[in-house]
Amino acid sequence: MTIASQTSDLFKPVQLGAIQLQNRIAMAPLTRSRAQAGDVPSELAPEYYAQRAGAGLIIAEATQISPQGKGYAWTPGIYNEAQVAGWKKVTDAVHAKGGHIFLQLWHVGRISHPDLQPGNALPVAPSAVTPQGNAFTETGFKPFVEPRALELSELPGIIEQYKTAAQLAIKAGFDGVEIHGANGYLLDQFLRDKTNRRTDAYGGSIENRARLLLEVVEAVTSVIPSERVGIRLSPISPANDIADSDPKALFSYVVEQLNRFKLVYLHVVEGATGGPRQVEHGFDLQVLRDLFKGFYIANNGYDLPLATKAREGNLADIVAFGRPWIANPDLVERLKHNADLASFNPDTLYGGGAAGYTDYPALNLA
Ligand SMILES: Cc1cc2nc3c(=O)[nH]c(=O)nc-3n(C[C@H](O)[C@H](O)[C@H](O)COP(=O)(O)O)c2cc1C
Repeated sequence: MTIASQTSDLFKPVQLGAIQLQNRIAMAPLTRSRAQAGDVPSELAPEYYAQRAGAGLIIAEATQISPQGKGYAWTPGIYNEAQVAGWKKVTDAVHAKGGHIFLQLWHVGRISHPDLQPGNALPVAPSAVTPQGNAFTETGFKPFVEPRALELSELPGIIEQYKTAAQLAIKAGFDGVEIHGANGYLLDQFLRDKTNRRTDAYGGSIENRARLLLEVVEAVTSVIPSERVGIRLSPISPANDIADSDPKALFSYVVEQLNRFKLVYLHVVEGATGGPRQVEHGFDLQVLRDLFKGFYIANNGYDLPLATKAREGNLADIVAFGRPWIANPDLVERLKHNADLASFNPDTLYGGGAAGYTDYPALNLA
């Protein structure tokens, strides 16, 4: 048996801003739709995340910054004290196991449904462009509707919600936050010209389309230290019916501008989220790694050989695994020992209780 730790620094500690990670393997954010009433994290979430505390860094599931930011049934929030109390149990449980955990801050924009919105309102977006596909509501899948274009006067309020959510995340004991700029949600909808048809200061040129994301980053780093703030982007992913006519120019600009804020990491979904790493009209994402001054976290389709290669070639500072964490709570140990990985049950991914959540066993590798 090859012990991978002999040939790579994936399993060695590394300093990420203010915190020392046990290794260079992260848990990518994974929505599991098990929150309680009031969008408070599940009673089982402390156990679920503690089981996975062997990750160098856990990035907790996408968490809405406001009721309007919600787009799926049973996702947790971070905008009130009950949610802070629920999350505090999670961060305490992870810290007790020696792990570290960031929270992913989320506003879904148009990827929602009136059933999930306060007062059954229309979801909001940069422009009234209907996404293809279905929303996951408490009563099943329903086709997306045409969203309402946000008024210019509403944007400062949304920026303020990101700021408050970041403060509440720190209050809940998180080591930091990840701003969700990926996968076709609100900030990504503003970035891309397929979804942003605005004619004001937040639409048109690349500079204008990047404005909201950069203002959110500025607001969040004005209230918590930038060494506790990362961002996730998915520059060539079509997730949630998103596209741009020139992603290389767009994301090169965004990443150059991000350097002003000294964020601790840039987390890139390489390729189509959960799909091919190479996509049509894609570009070499190493351009972004080279431009960015902080840590680069790579994600999408990694396994042990690819992760080892990424470190040996210095293509990434940290590698995030998503799906493999679901059925392998001891993923780092399994990778270290080159052990077999369990596969997850797709029927228990979203919603429900302990089944398919906290009942995947760790291997006895001692
Ligand atoms: C069940 C599930 C839930 C996910 N939830 C999120 C999420 O909340 N936030 C996010 O940015 N990405 C989310 N993703 C995408 C993953 O973080 C990751 O980018 C993707 O699974 C590719 O990585 P992998 O090949 O290692 O699984 C989710 C993916 C899956 C399968």
